[in-house]
Amino acid sequence: MGFTLGIESTAHTFSFGLCDSSGHPQPSVSSFIRPEEGGIHPREAADHHVENSGALLKELLDKNNLTPEDFTAVAFSQGPGLGPCLRIGAAVARTLSQEWKVPLVGVNHCVAHIEVGREVCGCSDPVLLYVSGGNTQIIARLGGRYRILGETLDIGIGNMLDKFAREQGIPFPGGPRVETLAQEWIDANPDSRLSDYELPYAVQGMDLAFSGLLTAARHMVLKGKPLGAVCWSVQEHSFAACVEVAERALAHTGKTEVLLGGGVACNQRLRDMCSMMAGERSAQSFVPEKMYCVDNGSMIAILGRLQLLYGEDTELRQSAINQHLRTNETPILWS
Ligand code: ATP
Ligand code: FE2
Repeated sequence: MGFTLGIESTAHTFSFGLCDSSGHPQPSVSSFIRPEEGGIHPREAADHHVENSGALLKELLDKNNLTPEDFTAVAFSQGPGLGPCLRIGAAVARTLSQEWKVPLVGVNHCVAHIEVGREVCGCSDPVLLYVSGGNTQIIARLGGRYRILGETLDIGIGNMLDKFAREQGIPFPGGPRVETLAQEWIDANPDSRLSDYELPYAVQGMDLAFSGLLTAARHMVLKGKPLGAVCWSVQEHSFAACVEVAERALAHTGKTEVLLGGGVACNQRLRDMCSMMAGERSAQSFVPEKMYCVDNGSMIAILGRLQLLYGEDTELRQSAINQHLRTNETPILWS
């Protein structure tokens, strides 16, 4: 087995990545669309992906000193995600697989976030707190599947941060800027109390919700509270809710590792809260480097390699994308 190419195109990011024959990844080569205003328009994102795919692939090959002959498989995100975006990745993957005469393998994007974390952090059987723009799920492996133990009932946490930020004039992606504003606020006002900036805390059983918090945060700014304070409160409330469900998942499953994944896992405050929670339970907390938290082609390559090794390739007629693919639909055959 040589290198596996991975193609990621579920939403705003188009990315090529790779892993070697033992599953070790190299940094991906990516481009993402920043909407001028409003959210991501799926068709505009798809156009961006088409326009950038050729140059990005060349950059990946050049950077790693590889030629097409070095690849023995092509993997792509089959879902979940935005239809027009997924279709571009799938089309590029089918073309390369035919050109290079190597097997094609369609993978589950959410499962890829788990497998890249396991690979680069060296954990074995974690509870995954998967926090991205479109997804917020608490996942654990039980009986040959990654089961969704809890998830958001409305919008993803990253989506909530991006929407809140956008309304305050902060361009996409808003999460990193919200983090900076929150940090600056608490550094300058270390005696701030959350009770002065209270927002809805929506944990329902093992599930979460963020749209009520978004509305309340919006009102808080309109009422004149400082933006930094509201950013801080938004983070404290929403992260605490996620970490609480992750902790409950550890307790229910008896697992002793918690792994963070998805773009929001870049946030240092969330990382700290997660490791504090793990520390209190004598569990271990793991977080991949930022480049493996955000959407990246290398995670698709890692999962594609595993699926080929333990299962089979994806025939052309089965390679259609599935916008609504669920984390627990993919059989997990490896240990
Ligand atoms: P998915 O398809 O898995 O839902 P995605 O399309 O949202 O993924 P990701 O790259 O996983 O893409 O995540 C992007 C999200 O991560 C954006 O919402 C962005 O605001 C958020 N994000 C990135 N960095 C930070 C940060 N430091 N703090 C908070 N959120 C962040
Ligand atoms: Fe993602």
